[in-house]
Amino acid sequence: MSAEKLQYVVSVDVYANAKQLPQDELHLLQEAGKVMHAAYAPYSNFNVGAAVLLENGKIITGNNQENAAYPSGMCAERVAIFYAGSQYPNVAIKTIAVTCEAEADQPITPCGACRQAIAEYEQRHNKKIRLIMATPTGKVFCTNGIETLLPFMFSSKYLKK
Ligand code: THU
Repeated sequence: MSAEKLQYVVSVDVYANAKQLPQDELHLLQEAGKVMHAAYAPYSNFNVGAAVLLENGKIITGNNQENAAYPSGMCAERVAIFYAGSQYPNVAIKTIAVTCEAEADQPITPCGACRQAIAEYEQRHNKKIRLIMATPTGKVFCTNGIETLLPFMFSSKYLKK
């Protein structure tokens, strides 16, 4: 007996260069780029910057914060998202931009834990978040909603009785 296939089709918009982005998204990415340089990443030497655009127009930025006890550190995305959540608990996130200092051609994409945190924020405010993922000079990936990056995600629906 063969199993039924349940498939996700994943697609992202790819811009060859950040300058092709709409002005407001380029601006958000530039804010992520600015804060990236202030990351505290003495162990990995891998600086990451994130900028969160809220529905009220405010921009919250964050960068990765490492620790000698490695798991105690935190990614740029979650630093920014959690700060946004703590300061503006009732305001949805519209867009998150993330960038890094890597030479790699492939834009940075949030790690699994950050994807889960973004998923929680989407569900909390019932609003999909646009993601702008980039290297400083190279390609940019854009997608609407975390499901693209986190198919079959765990969510609070499993916890409800
Ligand atoms: N990091 C981020 O800040 N965001 C990501 O999307 C991936 C990884 C950080 C965590 C750690 O400080 C460093 O990059 C190396 O993994």
